[in-house]
Amino acid sequence: MASITEAFKEAVRDRVNLVDVVSRHVQLRKSGSNWMGLCPFHDDRKSPSFSVQSEKGVFHCFGCGAGGDVFEFVMRIRGLSFMEALEELAREANLPIPRQEQRPPGEMEREREERRSLLNIVEQAKEWFGQQLRGPQGKAAREYLTARGLRSATLERFQLGYAPPGWSQLVDHFGGGSAVCQVLETVGLAVHKEGRSGWYDRFRDRIIFPIHDRQGRCIAFGGRLLKGSDGPKYINSPETPLYRKGEVLYGLDSAWKVIRETEQAVVVEGYMDLISLADAGIGQVVATLGTALTEQHLRLLWGQTNRIVFCFDGDQAGIKAAWRALEQVVEGLQADRHPTFLFLPEGADPDDMIRREGVERFRQRLKESTSLLDFLLNHLSDGLQMEGPEGKAALVHRLEPYLAKVADPLLAQLYRQAVGQRLGLQGNWQQRPPSVSAPRRAAFRPPRSAVLQPVGKGRDHERLLLAILLRHPQLVLEHEESFAGLTIQDDARAKLLDALIHFGHSENAVRIAPLDYLTDGSLRRLAKAILAQEEQDLDDPERELQGCLVNCQLERIRQEMARLSANGFAEEKDWTVYHGFRQEEERLLREIKKMATPNVVPMDRH
Ligand code: UTP
Ligand code: MN
Repeated sequence: MASITEAFKEAVRDRVNLVDVVSRHVQLRKSGSNWMGLCPFHDDRKSPSFSVQSEKGVFHCFGCGAGGDVFEFVMRIRGLSFMEALEELAREANLPIPRQEQRPPGEMEREREERRSLLNIVEQAKEWFGQQLRGPQGKAAREYLTARGLRSATLERFQLGYAPPGWSQLVDHFGGGSAVCQVLETVGLAVHKEGRSGWYDRFRDRIIFPIHDRQGRCIAFGGRLLKGSDGPKYINSPETPLYRKGEVLYGLDSAWKVIRETEQAVVVEGYMDLISLADAGIGQVVATLGTALTEQHLRLLWGQTNRIVFCFDGDQAGIKAAWRALEQVVEGLQADRHPTFLFLPEGADPDDMIRREGVERFRQRLKESTSLLDFLLNHLSDGLQMEGPEGKAALVHRLEPYLAKVADPLLAQLYRQAVGQRLGLQGNWQQRPPSVSAPRRAAFRPPRSAVLQPVGKGRDHERLLLAILLRHPQLVLEHEESFAGLTIQDDARAKLLDALIHFGHSENAVRIAPLDYLTDGSLRRLAKAILAQEEQDLDDPERELQGCLVNCQLERIRQEMARLSANGFAEEKDWTVYHGFRQEEERLLREIKKMATPNVVPMDRH
């Protein structure tokens, strides 16, 4: 079986050109027999570290260790499962998928089967909601939508629906059996009754907005109250195996083509904003649905275009959301990316605006949107007196942590210059201009969190881990077991860790500082150097320590993956091994994500 799969994969690899596929997402330049570009899988800070060997059909990033063949690339960049990537690439290669490939036995197939059945239920529910909107129960909902200016073509285009009142119409529609209800619960459509047996509908008497993934499959819903009813205005599906809020943008399934054509993406907050804009002919719109913009959201968008306009309501909440977006955007910002911000007048949202002013005026507003630097300067100079040197100095200080996060050192430098000109600063005022060629150092405010600075962002997690142990030796014993799983390649560092473990066990631990316990001169020097390099105070050393441990594991796995891919997957089993690593990698990334956001669920705005 495996050999058929491998042969088929080989045939697909043969027919699709990896360089073509990668070029849709990454700008590549020829370099010798390879192609080089900025890695889409990490914040490529330095010169391009992502290479594609077109003859071997493999890609590899020297920065983050990502690597693999065309399947791997498509899986990662588009967030697809292996079978999904295979289907897509097979289509591109014009190869029919042999039956065996469609149903390989085992884990993958079971997972896929389960996913398919979840998708199927959600799809059926969407159909049913749609019928309800068109049917007798949907009268009030239809009237509401018409009153808001939505035409029936628009309702169809966005496949809007209606969840009727009562507690179990949807549950009953599916027969109400506990097996199907469990599935409905899994996809977020039914809620289990507290302390009793039975389930009830999550969405009741609400207009339903289906949320689709990038392939256009329905994965979740939003539900809006009709005018006059009680409760939160919108409720959304919870996180489910199909729906991870931080990774989904409403509307991207149909917007991405327009985004590519118009070379621009517009990000709005709400369902109705997106629908109104799209209806008026601005199709390059996606919505965050009131949750904070995430790194993954941005990655999705930067993968399609280098111009994003963030469009927020003109109220306090909107400005706050815009600022959070800016903080996310600035993190790892690269050259030739153009984020701008459109602030609407107080009290108006994009839906209101376009109805009030028409599409041309809105397009004009998009064109006139505020640059990132202007927004930064305006926002940060809030409350400062900008006439005198004191205020200017304060502004420069406030600004610096943001500029320090910009990935491209030259861009950060040009921002600094622009700030200097704007404020009329002369001479050598820039405290520590980063050099373009030197590796980026943690700039003015060193990152305070290892957890939030995962692998590939230039963090030395081993070093931080040792620094934490040197400062907080009581953590040594508590986490000793975890250190066993750690492979420290550097000899001196490995010795230092051993010495710290010894120290943790010794009676001296409570009385003397670890530095004084280290009698070996070279270990002491190493320890001092580490403490000097990791001088920041951490808010939560224990959490950081755990973050370091996970990140160290991740680094090791990525090294192994890079090694396999650098060898061009010489042996057949390398693929299996690689995929094993990849799963482990994903598990660790999930763990990191969990650590980075202690209260995992992103807050919906009310
Ligand atoms: P808004 O309050 O700006 O609503 O929330 P809206 O989009 O203008 O909706 P309409 O025009 O009143 O119908 C923006 C987005 O925040 C999320 C929704 O996704 C909404 O579209 N939200 C809002 C919630 O998740 N829950 C809420 O209670 C309110
Ligand atoms: Mn609105």
